This record gives sequence, structure tokens and C-alpha cells, in this order.
Amino acid sequence: LFGLPDQSPHERVLLAADPVTGLKAILAVHSTARGPAFGGCRFWSYDNELAALNDALRLSQGMSLKNALANLPFGGGKAVIIKPAGDFDRPALFAAFGRAVQSLDGAYITAEDVGTTTADMLGMTAHTQYVSGIPREGAFGGDPSPKTAYGVFVSIDEGVKRVLGRESLQGVRVALQGLGAVGWHLAEYLHRAGAQLVVADVNADKVARAQAKLGAQAVGIGEILAAEVDVVAPCALGAVLNAQSIPALKAKLIAGAANNQLATAADGDALQARGITYLPDYLVNAGGIISVAREFRNEGEETAVMNEVAQIRGRVAELLDRIKTSGQTPAREADAWARSLLVKPA
Ligand code: NAI
Repeated sequence: LFGLPDQSPHERVLLAADPVTGLKAILAVHSTARGPAFGGCRFWSYDNELAALNDALRLSQGMSLKNALANLPFGGGKAVIIKPAGDFDRPALFAAFGRAVQSLDGAYITAEDVGTTTADMLGMTAHTQYVSGIPREGAFGGDPSPKTAYGVFVSIDEGVKRVLGRESLQGVRVALQGLGAVGWHLAEYLHRAGAQLVVADVNADKVARAQAKLGAQAVGIGEILAAEVDVVAPCALGAVLNAQSIPALKAKLIAGAANNQLATAADGDALQARGITYLPDYLVNAGGIISVAREFRNEGEETAVMNEVAQIRGRVAELLDRIKTSGQTPAREADAWARSLLVKPA
């Protein structure tokens, strides 16, 4: 279980089960070298428990790299809750999950991820103090998605200038896979900057809204990655950059919010071989964790957090400089850079 090829060992993995509520969760603490492990909780239907474990292990390692590159005083962790097949009491299920989080005594701090909401986080506060992403009356907090979108936006903007040699986003064609919490905000930022959007989502209402409000062109979900565009922004699922999709890509730049976009490390090499620059997901999508981390530390203030998220632009620029010297792919360079930072911050 712990010998997955692109994994480094995890410090701690808790399998939490509660027969009363039907909770089955995996809480994975990858690294606490920089501080307590911080990362969201995914609520998802998995084919089997091993698939859930694999997801938790991969995502928590990604959080270690993300938090290190974002210069946060936190390590990496992630939790997944296996969605019960039948009826269930959602508040009770998340209460049980909150108790599991609390049982780790602060080694892991949770927040939203795919399938979980600000209401789930709020409900958990009665059971654990190690939860963030909570709406607070008149104070900083809540949904991290707009901050994630902003970080991806500045990354695309930097990539378009540095990689594509364009002066701005004006007229640049961007394909957006997924118009969810992050994808929609990203679409708005890009539209305001003059980009032309090509979009796909399984939810037809979201697509229609992007057509009506943002002048987006709609394509099918099977066509979005191979669209005739300058940039592809994956904002839905992981592992979308793989042996099937990479040969068909027309874009020269990939930057999006989805976690674990590369199916395997070799897929990063395959992108490079095709002359496509991939900005690693955990570098560009750190806006949300920056937001919930500052909220958790009571350091949240809108302008300051947005300025901190904007610093992702400088790190994208640094990565692009580093690969010129090292000759590495962006994925391998970012991985090495992040791992060199898995030590207690000064
Ligand atoms: P979400 O669930 O709100 O949005 C996902 C969207 O993708 C939905 O609109 C869904 O209908 C669509 N979708 C699903 N399958 C699709 C397919 N095959 N083709 C096209 N569209 C499809 O999730 P959210 O929060 O926007 O996150 C998106 C991605 O970004 C996830 O991978 C998440 O892990 C990652 N992420 C999110 C952060 C956040 O702050 N919300 C932070 C860091 C990463």
C-alpha cells in the first residue's frame, strides 16, 4: 500500500469507521516537517476502498508540495470520506468525521474539497477545532474557491506572457474543463482580461450560463482537451493529462486548478516532448489553501490574502527561469524544488 511508485512515505494514515453514521474515511498525514498537515476533505463515491486510499495518499503528498511552495507553515495532509451508497444523515456523518479529525490532536487540519461545503465545515466546528474554510459573520473566512481561481488566473497570465510571448490575455483562447466553484470564477477573470473562452462541463446549465454571460464557445466534454486553443485549464478531474489526451492537445500551455492532473510522472515528460509547457497544479492552485491557512491562523484579511495569492505569479516565473538552467521539465523541477522545502520554515 505504501510502495506506490511516485510516493514518498506517509507519516500517518488513519482509517476511521463509524457504524452508526456509516462513516468510512481515510485521513492521510503525509508530512508535518513544516507544521501540522493541512488539506481539504474530499467526499466522493469510490469504486472500492483501495481507490479511496490511493486518492488520499496521492492528494496528501500533493498538499505537502503545495504548502511548501506556497511558503505556508504547514505540512501536507488530506482526507477522503467514502460516500455511503444508500441514505445517510449528512450532519451526523460529518460530525463523526470531525471527531476523527480531533482524534489526531492537530496533526491534521481539514477544510473543503470536492464534494464538501462550507456548511459541512461549519457543522464540524462542534466536534473539532482543527477545521477551516468556515463562513464567519463580518470576518475573513469561508469558501476558498475564488482565491484558488485567482491564483490560477495570475499563473495563466504569467505563462501566456512568458511561454506564448503574448503581451496580455487579450484574444488568447483558453479551454476550460469544468465550470464549478473554481472554474466559474476563473472564467470570469479570464473574460474580464479579454480572453476567448471555450468551455465544457457535464452540467449543461453551467455551460449555457458561460455562453450567455461570458460569450464562451461550448464544446463536448470529450473534445475540450483537444480544442483549438492556446491554453488548456483543467478545472474538473485529476489524471486528465495521460497517454490518450496528450497526443491530441493543440494548446502550448496547460495551467488549471484540478489536483493531480498528470496521470503519471512520465506524462509530464510526454508534454515536454510535444513542446507543451505544463504549470504544475500544486504550484498554481495554492490560492485556496493560502486562504484557509490564513483563516485558521486568524491572519485572514481580504487584501492581504489576495496579495499573498498573487505571489504565485512570481513562483511561476521562478519555475520558468529554473527550467531554463536545469533543462528539467516543469513538473520534475517543481517536485524537486518543493521537496527541498519540506523542512521547518525559518
Ligand atoms: P466543483 O465540483 O465545484 O467543480 C467541478 C466541475 O467540473 C463541476 O461543474 C462538474 O460538473 C464539472 N465536471 C465534472 N466532470 C467533468 C468532465 N468530465 N468534463 C467537464 N466538466 C466536468 O469543484 P471545484 O471546487 O471547482 O474544484 C475543481 C478542481 O480543482 C478539483 O479537482 C479540485 O480538487 C481542485 N481544487 C479546488 C480547490 C478549491 O478551492 N475549490 C483548491 C485546489 C484544487
